[in-house]
Amino acid sequence: MKKKGHMGVTPVFSDQNDRKYFEKDYKSTNTMLSIFETDNVTFNSELINLNFRKTVIKNLIKIGIVEKFKFKEINYDLSRVHEIIPETDKELDEHEFNNTIKKFYDFDTDILELYYKFILEKIAPLFPDKVYFQKTPSFRFHFPIKKKKSNNMYHTDVMLGHPPKEINIWVSITDAFLSNSLRFMNLEKSLSFVNECKMDFENFAKKVQYDKDFIKKLNQNSKPLEMKCGEFILFDSRCLHCTQLNITNRTRVSMDIRVIQEKDYNSLKRDYTGTGRRKIKFIPGEYYNKGLI
Ligand SMILES: [Fe+2]
Repeated sequence: MKKKGHMGVTPVFSDQNDRKYFEKDYKSTNTMLSIFETDNVTFNSELINLNFRKTVIKNLIKIGIVEKFKFKEINYDLSRVHEIIPETDKELDEHEFNNTIKKFYDFDTDILELYYKFILEKIAPLFPDKVYFQKTPSFRFHFPIKKKKSNNMYHTDVMLGHPPKEINIWVSITDAFLSNSLRFMNLEKSLSFVNECKMDFENFAKKVQYDKDFIKKLNQNSKPLEMKCGEFILFDSRCLHCTQLNITNRTRVSMDIRVIQEKDYNSLKRDYTGTGRRKIKFIPGEYYNKGLI
């Protein structure tokens, strides 16, 4: 069986105790419900609508993906950016990354300053406790495409090694709708699908790619987020989500971030490490910013 989607990159537990501590963390996670009384909540910020859009355009020009004059042709509309980006920078690899996403990591201090401002002014005040936040935000460019190499890669970031007590934040820098958006499942249903696989994430990743009935049920129980540019959603990190085959004629640009409250971080029963190539440690100074905010 060919490894597809997230097969082969789910966490490996060192022994029974490690697995037990993980399950304790997973089952005791309650941050979203205790603060917001819901597993997901959406807010709006002008900071994104005005400043992030401009800064993203500036960076696309700076890293040489698009020439400046071409933005004029699309009226500086980021959702039409696929019209001026070369095909080679839009093709997806097996991890659903394209060259634009990879090159965009090379961003300048303007983006980071804006990002810190966003965290400081819009995110930190939402939490009663201080938070550690993702040191470098992840930008996604989801272009209209005709085919993908794998089925929808339903997952939670926990299945890729993140601590369950993190909060996911997804920021819409263009309007996100239908198939260009993130497909999302509420917490109750997400937990039941994961439990159906006895919390065996490798088995889950396999079923997501190969079990037709399971895939059908996942699709029936989830829906795309409808978000306007400038809106951002916070959700429990145990909620299933995935990107889809974008058959709209609009590019979606978004930024995703993870934060964790200090007390939640301190309560974790084991160390957490990313399952990707870099094996990043989810600790302050490495994945998270060194200081609390
Ligand atoms: Fe994710």
